[in-house]
Amino acid sequence: MSEREVIDTNVVTVTTFVMHEGRKAKGTGELTTLLNSMCTAIKAISSAVRKAGIAHLYGIAGSTNVTGDQVKKLDILSNDLVINMIKSSFTSCMMVSEENERAIIVDPDNRGKYIVCFDPLDGSSNIDCLVSIGTIFAIYKKVTDDEPCEKDALQPGRNLVAAGYALYGSATLIVLSTGNGVNGFMLDPAIGEFILVDKNVRIKERGKIYSLNEGYAKYFDPAVTEYLQKKKFPQDGSAPYNARYVGSMVADVHRTLMYGGIFLYPGNLKNPEGKLRLLYEGNPMAFIIEQAGGLASTGYENLLDIQPNSIHQRTPVAMGSREDVLEYVAICQKHAKK
Ligand code: F6P
Repeated sequence: MSEREVIDTNVVTVTTFVMHEGRKAKGTGELTTLLNSMCTAIKAISSAVRKAGIAHLYGIAGSTNVTGDQVKKLDILSNDLVINMIKSSFTSCMMVSEENERAIIVDPDNRGKYIVCFDPLDGSSNIDCLVSIGTIFAIYKKVTDDEPCEKDALQPGRNLVAAGYALYGSATLIVLSTGNGVNGFMLDPAIGEFILVDKNVRIKERGKIYSLNEGYAKYFDPAVTEYLQKKKFPQDGSAPYNARYVGSMVADVHRTLMYGGIFLYPGNLKNPEGKLRLLYEGNPMAFIIEQAGGLASTGYENLLDIQPNSIHQRTPVAMGSREDVLEYVAICQKHAKK
């Protein structure tokens, strides 16, 4: 074989893929334009993440965001990139960002029919130590013709038109679903395009990994403690599960999608609703997991069925392989009956 580099001349990019899906659905092209703008923002964030040290983008920017996390310089930059790209695409009338206390209402002249909820840079505690971080987004349609207001974003995850995440890991990957299964696109830095690499991703029915912050064990609900005991000391002769926890939801959920198992961020004595936010963390990740054949639950209710009542609301999360999540849910329900 020649040592010359082999260049594939027939690749599918995220743009062509989304265009194709839009044609199949006989859409207007507005969602395609919106997703393309999101991909451009993600490329810019990826570039900023990769050169953060050199460009002095690490470190705390000096303020605290609405949910109490310390805001980093990269968070602010990523937030501005997503907001500006979406605004200028004429496809959205309103945005909800983790970094903004109130919803962002787009000027009447620039409006489109979609509502975009996003976490521009998730896993911010991992930025300074170069561990994987990500961007998460969820897209809804505005259902009324009234002036856009926060209430329009309070839709259950079942209404999602599309959702996805970008993982800035050892490579940059976008995982996307428009309700037709899940596909993964890897950024080829040489040409600046996301290339389809993981077609029709399916999650294992059962995995061998559990993932949560066990440092909160003192505050866990008895159901969580019982479930973990079962995974660590199985009584049926099976091998104990492996534990993995990055502390970036995108990285932990992506590993769960690829290898199977369960990712948990349950409520606990101190924080009964847990930490993760429903609109731009729980729902989009749950949508992806369900579209790949998995399941997402609070332990008591399917995540995608929750009717939100505020834009930054938190939710307990258990998501991953179907059988693993069902086993966890059964234990939660047993304890709820006590
Ligand atoms: O919500 C932000 C986030 O960084 C998630 O990405 C991650 O899953 C979680 O917080 C980690 O929280 P903790 O440090 O409590 O385990």
